[in-house]
Parts: sequence; C-alpha cells; structure tokens
Amino acid sequence: MSLQKKSKITISEILSKKKNKEKITMLTSYDYCLSRICNETDLDMVLIGDSAATVMMGYNSTRKIGMAEMLTFCKGVVNAITRQVVVADMPFGSYQMGKSISIKNALKFLRCGCDAVKLEGGLEIVNIIKNLTDLGIPVMGHIGLKPQTTPLHHGYISQGKTAEDALKLLNEAKVLEEAGVFSIVLEKVTSEVASVITQSVNVPTIGIGCGPHVDGQVLVTHDMLGLYRDFEPKFVKRYLNLSEQIFNAIKAYETEVKSGKFPQEEHMYHMTEEEFAKLEIMLKRA
Ligand code: KIV
Repeated sequence: MSLQKKSKITISEILSKKKNKEKITMLTSYDYCLSRICNETDLDMVLIGDSAATVMMGYNSTRKIGMAEMLTFCKGVVNAITRQVVVADMPFGSYQMGKSISIKNALKFLRCGCDAVKLEGGLEIVNIIKNLTDLGIPVMGHIGLKPQTTPLHHGYISQGKTAEDALKLLNEAKVLEEAGVFSIVLEKVTSEVASVITQSVNVPTIGIGCGPHVDGQVLVTHDMLGLYRDFEPKFVKRYLNLSEQIFNAIKAYETEVKSGKFPQEEHMYHMTEEEFAKLEIMLKRA
C-alpha cells in the first residue's frame, strides 16, 4: 500500500471522467478499517450504502436501517477517507416526509463529513432532489431496481426489459439530470437500456448489475470480497473468498489457544526480575 498522500477527488473531476471516457469506480464502505484501505487506492468514490442494513446489521431489507445507524457508519468512513468522494445513502423514510425533513437529514450527512447524498427514486422524489440541489447539496440519483421501495415478495428482478419500461427509465434519468444530480446509479437495469441512458444524459451513470456500457461501476464490497454469503447476485464478481479466509483464521486461533501454541514469548509483557522478587516477598508477608 502506498503511503503517499494523494489529493482529494472532486465532484467536478467525476463529471470530467464522463467527458474523457474514463471509467469511474465506486465501492461501498461502512467502517474505518476498510475505508483506510480504500483510501490508499485510486477508487473515485466510496458509498456508505444503505446495504449496510443487510451486510452490517443482518436486516432482511434496506428499509429497516435508519438515520442514526447510517450516521454511525458515516463517522467511521469519514475518519478514514481523505481521497475519495464520500457519498451517503439517505435511508428509507429520511427524505419522503417533505422538504424540510429531507434538507435537515441531508445536512446531517454533510455535517458528518460526507461530500454528497444518494436518494433512491425517480419521478416520485424529483421535487425533493431539486430542493436539495438548489441549496447546493450534491445529490446522486438511483433508479432501476430500488430495493427501499420494492416489496420483498416481488423479488429483486431486473429492470428495463420491455421497450415501455426502457422509456420510463430513460425519462426518469433525464428528469433527475434536470433536477441537478451529479451522477445516477443504475441498479440491475438491462445492459441495452443502461447503454441508451448513458448515451442520453450528460451526468455519469454508475452501474450495478447493468453490464459494461455505463460510465462507472459500483459493487457492495462485502459481496466482491466474498464476506456476505446470505445472497449471491449473478452480477457480483468475487475477487476474494474472505469469509473462508476469516473462518480458517478463527479456527487456527481456536486450535492454538486450546493447544497452548498461542500466545508465545513475543506476545507477552514482563516485570523486571527485581520487581518480581519484590512481589514474591510481599506476597509471602501478606
Ligand atoms: O446501498 C447500496 O449499496 C447501494 C448500491 C447497490 C449502489 O445503493
């Protein structure tokens, strides 16, 4: 890992990447240690996703996470990141109840040290998004599959399979662009439609499960590291099998503690012989 401190990436640099046809990279992070590692890389953005609901909290839906939990995760991330644009997901219920509540909640993320917020939704929340961007709050949009508002029993099916659906998504992307978002996450949208949207808007599209014809990619880090195993979407590529590696490490620790192999001399602290002799005398007297 490089110890050289690189300068902070700006939102305007993210926008330029689309013009220069440079791919944008984003991963989720929810804590200090993982964010420290991200900070040493050339990733462009780090997302404190509401996927924290599932991978950090074990909830069965992203609807179950709230502002307090999200802000706690944000604190860990912003204490580590000096390089990437930090985007925080506004959780379900934090922006649907009107302009002033959404502004108040978005400002909590910015005050915490995040650079931008992400809101899941299209036409139904465009006024809320516009209200935030008019105030200078950087907003990332999120359309396609919207887990916050997809009932669990509907399943997380891919979006934009029909020409009609494709037009609706394209229209939503354009409306979000007009509302001032600086980029749009497309989730589980067919590759064809993701490509059409990417060519039709001036702001970068960041795809998850949308194929390669988008301006950037995002994955949930716990998925790509092989740490979250409850559900394995087809669009995830596993770069590591971290859960197996962690399991093996825990088993090795357990075995070594039981057999006396751990701890060894290098893991201990000692009193001086003189102090120990003094202690022995004191113990005899006591
Ligand atoms: O919460 C999250 O991790 C996300 C990504 C799927 C983009 O919104």
